[in-house]
Amino acid sequence: MANTLINRIGLSTGGGDAPGLNAVIRAATLAALNRGWQVVGIRDGFNGLLLPDDYPDNGLMKLSRRTVRGITHLGGTILGTTNRGNPCKYPISQPDGTVIEVDRTGELVELFRQAQIDALITIGGDGSMAIAKALWEKGLNVVGVPKTIDNDLDSTEATFGFDTAVAFATECLDRLHTTAASHNRVIVVEVMGRYAGWIALHAGIAGSADAILIPEIPYDLDRVAQKINEREGSGRKFSLVVAAEGAKPLHGEVSVIGKEVGRAERLGGIGDKIAEELQPMTGKETRVVVLGHLLRGGTPTAQDRLLGLRFGAAAVRALAEGQNGVMVALDPPSVNYVPLERATRRMKTVPLDSDTLQTGRDLGICFGD
Ligand code: F6P
Repeated sequence: MANTLINRIGLSTGGGDAPGLNAVIRAATLAALNRGWQVVGIRDGFNGLLLPDDYPDNGLMKLSRRTVRGITHLGGTILGTTNRGNPCKYPISQPDGTVIEVDRTGELVELFRQAQIDALITIGGDGSMAIAKALWEKGLNVVGVPKTIDNDLDSTEATFGFDTAVAFATECLDRLHTTAASHNRVIVVEVMGRYAGWIALHAGIAGSADAILIPEIPYDLDRVAQKINEREGSGRKFSLVVAAEGAKPLHGEVSVIGKEVGRAERLGGIGDKIAEELQPMTGKETRVVVLGHLLRGGTPTAQDRLLGLRFGAAAVRALAEGQNGVMVALDPPSVNYVPLERATRRMKTVPLDSDTLQTGRDLGICFGD
């Protein structure tokens, strides 16, 4: 059934950026304009609506054919994004220096109404989908589009950004191989991924790492040292260890950089910890490379561009059909819709019986267990 109530839609991008966001924005904008709807982009997540005075254009960017021209191949997001200022738990500083968290979703829905935005397409990860659900429960027409380089959303087969991150990490491993081999060194490569090991696993296998440490398999560093020492004994005097940022030792904890009010905890530092402990265990000079945000920047792969374009167009089709409170999901061979409440229910981690993991084991890669 066609939805005749929509005149104007809003697009917003939230959370960490991922290659492919601009492809979503382009496809959603063109698909909406082709239906005779107007499109506005909300700047920096929802800050454009919540803090309009901070922006010369009142926080709303009119999206036209011209604005979305030539952006499919660009990394980042033309709308800007933020992983601060979650409207469900909005941080407000108090006179005594403390910070309290306030639910501003009711106010935000009213701001959408005042801006005459009839429906929202929100593009983000699990945090953004939880916000989308809260806004939908307060009466806003919402369709979510999943995004994350971490590949940790359970209700979609894939998210754009992951393929680009894996391709880049693999290229980095190729480069690190030659320098590690030339210097007879161990190099520990820390990659993003939060509490899931997808990027480490896929790039580690594709890039021929010797050890891959992922959150799903708490590691024993003795095993890794044993692998490196065995290689040494057989004349392979260098090794590459890929560590997911969420990897943790057996009986140990994940490595956290910090936690701010209103934000998820920041992971990082595991690469340094591993290198520091591993060097005396192997006697080999050990270096650390943290790929970090390099995995989020740059040109999306063709696969991520296509997925972004498919998701953007599918989100508009959902609104046109009168769907609401759903997230677009990849359900090969097609694109499907899942209720927002299901979209945020579970994190997708690497299954211990996955054939990709088994492939790594068959190749002789050490997983620290
Ligand atoms: O979720 C994407 C991600 O890049 C994670 O892999 C990483 O832990 C986090 O975002 C880093 O976020 P920030 O932008 O706060 O550094």
